[in-house]
Amino acid sequence: MSPHPHSSVIVALDFESASAAMALVDQLGPDARHYKVGLQLLTEAGPDLARGLVAAGKEVFLDLKLHEIPNSVAGAVKAAGRLGASLVTVHASAGSTVLRAAVAAAQPFPNLRVLALTVITSLSDQDLPEIGLAPSVQDQVERLARLSAAAGCHGVVASVREATCLRHILPPGSLIVTPGIQLPDSGATDQVRVATPQAAAMAGASHIIVGRAITAASDPRAAFALAVAGFGRGA
Ligand code: C5P
Repeated sequence: MSPHPHSSVIVALDFESASAAMALVDQLGPDARHYKVGLQLLTEAGPDLARGLVAAGKEVFLDLKLHEIPNSVAGAVKAAGRLGASLVTVHASAGSTVLRAAVAAAQPFPNLRVLALTVITSLSDQDLPEIGLAPSVQDQVERLARLSAAAGCHGVVASVREATCLRHILPPGSLIVTPGIQLPDSGATDQVRVATPQAAAMAGASHIIVGRAITAASDPRAAFALAVAGFGRGA
């Protein structure tokens, strides 16, 4: 579990511009300490935005979702480490050689942890056959979690539905980071395997990723406080 409850709630900065992202960071203020920078914002704003967050004392989860040859994955993980990121993601389905390359590349950076992505939370059992996988999501998540742990990854990204079982499969202290989080008045999104912050904590998640439930809320500060309180209640 992360040392501070506010660090356990990672706010996903899925914005179209650096200025919109930084406006939300300013609005949330010092209480929000952990931000996810994903492919949209990185491509739009470049790495300087992430560097700026680190310089401002924030933790940065660089959600690169790497799925590449080992040499390229290692290069990208090192770049994430130099940038000051604390979390970086690699697709577990890239295989154990790639996962081991990512873990080795992160070693010189004591604050950088490698998370393996199991199955993205917008997929359900029915989606697996079209990509050549047999249902179920649960089996696939367990298989990939075991692979990631054996390769030395520091944790996984998975939905709340799989978290309870993952707590038993993964080594003690492993990170379980769960997206697909909804607050009481969140609208419907493209996410399928969704849950509340409280349910995430009760299932054993170490962190939750919350995007639109905070960023698109009429009062993002109140929504962030609700997420922190909910996650704290379930812990
Ligand atoms: O807006 P919402 O809370 O659904 O955003 C979820 C965030 O979590 C997005 O930034 C998405 O990229 C990320 N994520 C996910 N599923 C994963 C890994 C990351 O939804 N397996």
